[in-house]
Amino acid sequence: MESPKLASLGGSLPVPSVQELVRDQILTVPSRYIQLDHDPPVISPAATLPSIPTIDMESLLQGDSQPDELNKLHSACKDWGFFHLVNHGVSYSLIERIKSEIQDFFELPLEEKRKFSQQPNELQGYGQVCVVSEEQKLDWGDMFFLVTLPFHGRKSILFENLSPSFREVLEAYSLELQKLVMALLDMIARALAMDPKEMRDLFENLFQEMRMNYYPPCPQPESVIGITPHSDAGLLTILLEVNEAQGLEIRKDGIWVPVKPLPNSFVVNLADVLEIVSNGVYHSVEHRATVNSEKERISIATFHSPNLKTEFGPARSLTNLQRPPLYRRETMQNYLKGFYSNELIGKSHVEAVKIAPGLEKGGNTS
Ligand code: OGA
Ligand code: NI
Repeated sequence: MESPKLASLGGSLPVPSVQELVRDQILTVPSRYIQLDHDPPVISPAATLPSIPTIDMESLLQGDSQPDELNKLHSACKDWGFFHLVNHGVSYSLIERIKSEIQDFFELPLEEKRKFSQQPNELQGYGQVCVVSEEQKLDWGDMFFLVTLPFHGRKSILFENLSPSFREVLEAYSLELQKLVMALLDMIARALAMDPKEMRDLFENLFQEMRMNYYPPCPQPESVIGITPHSDAGLLTILLEVNEAQGLEIRKDGIWVPVKPLPNSFVVNLADVLEIVSNGVYHSVEHRATVNSEKERISIATFHSPNLKTEFGPARSLTNLQRPPLYRRETMQNYLKGFYSNELIGKSHVEAVKIAPGLEKGGNTS
């Protein structure tokens, strides 16, 4: 049985499958997908492009014998909000299996995928997230979205329709990522000098969602966007690039920087709740995905948030009179509801919970 609270997180209007659209060898893109107002990526020789840092999970777990790795993690979170994670401990064979299952899923005939179609007022399923009006421009991609944890949040009909091998590998992947994220959040609490118990209270009973993205090749790649610029809502997102096609870009100091796929790694990014908990020491970073004319791109983003009932705000161990809370407290349920009921628009959600300067508790009073 699905919990009624989950059902009320929102819904998304039905949209055509972009994968089906390109089967007809179209030469031009329907106008609903044309989005010419996005900034181009930086064009400069690859050698001079800055690139996101790489963090080694094994070194990180060695703790005091490898203090530099914790410092590196802190800088990566502070300066980039994005990093490649290597030696992450999730087995190579599990990763290869999930990659192949996701590819097989998207290769299913449309009638088969339709068994997983998003139902009205539902986010989970095959379709697109955050389509809230018929006028809204559409992203050049299809997605399959599932709540994976807690178990009672799963939509059982979707899991029952999965092939047994896909279900088994999804479940194993979900639990491995949960473990990895809890270990990373412990390290992030250390890097922030935050009370470890306060962090644990946030990741106890994690809410985990998976978004499998399929971006088909496009005859006019510069005129569309695979996924609109946005920051993610929760604490940490773990992105696995399934077929190592390039497309992810992050906004760094106002310019769009491409992230080159790095074999045997995850891309980790900080999301809004972690920005809020860190009281703005860290930031969730806007990102988007571009597409190309040659080849499809497939990715799986796994989002980790506090449990829906949890109320979060700037960590008490990181705030005081000199550093007053810069964000309002909010329940995860309400935050996500706001997030999913709007189009993806940059960092508008986190901006909405910012406390106006001068109004912080303990700030200027007269
Ligand atoms: C997402 C996302 C990027 C990608 O699903 O939230 O940012 O590269 N995906 O697919
Ligand atoms: Ni994202």
